[in-house]
Amino acid sequence: MKKIFKIVLVIIIAGMVAIQFFNRPDMSTTTEITPAHITKVMSVPANVESILKRSCYDCHSDHTTWPWYSSIAPASWLVGDDVVKGKKKMNFSQWGSMQPAKQEARLNEICEEIKSDEMPLPPYLIMHGDAKLSQADKDILCQWVEIELKKLEDANPE
Ligand code: HEC
Repeated sequence: MKKIFKIVLVIIIAGMVAIQFFNRPDMSTTTEITPAHITKVMSVPANVESILKRSCYDCHSDHTTWPWYSSIAPASWLVGDDVVKGKKKMNFSQWGSMQPAKQEARLNEICEEIKSDEMPLPPYLIMHGDAKLSQADKDILCQWVEIELKKLEDANPE
């Protein structure tokens, strides 16, 4: 091997090692079900919960299952960023801490996002094929959204 290639290779490897020390995502996760958890503040049938668990919890709850590549930069930055932003927007583990109006808005968005295949985020499906929603899954989620929206509206008349 020519010397120049060796040098380039060493620089690349050193660079890969060096970036591992920057911006490590907070890879926290828990199995704890707090009182504000969506399953404690709304009725979430088992079939709905299993879809949410399978397809949404990684980015929208405190129960993230961190894949092995999430420990390795630069993949860790991408994965960590999705989880931080996803949870910031909507966290099923903290559902009850949102005002009813916000809960209504999020419920509406859930059905819209899944119908238009915007959620789960398409790149996520590359590594999580089983998270892809079938038409039946979408129908189950949207029907559940309808029921819970009705309950919220009845409980919080404007
Ligand atoms: C790979 C991570 C990831 C997965 C999996 C995921 N989401 Fe998201 N979701 C995000 C991120 C990131 C945002 C925030 C986008 C933003 O702030 O612009 C978001 C935003 C949302 C929003 C708010 C939409 C809006 O108007 O901004 C809803 C609703 C939503 N997701 C529903 C879901 C549902 C339902 C599932 C499961 C079927 C799901 N998501 C799965 C990452 C994810």
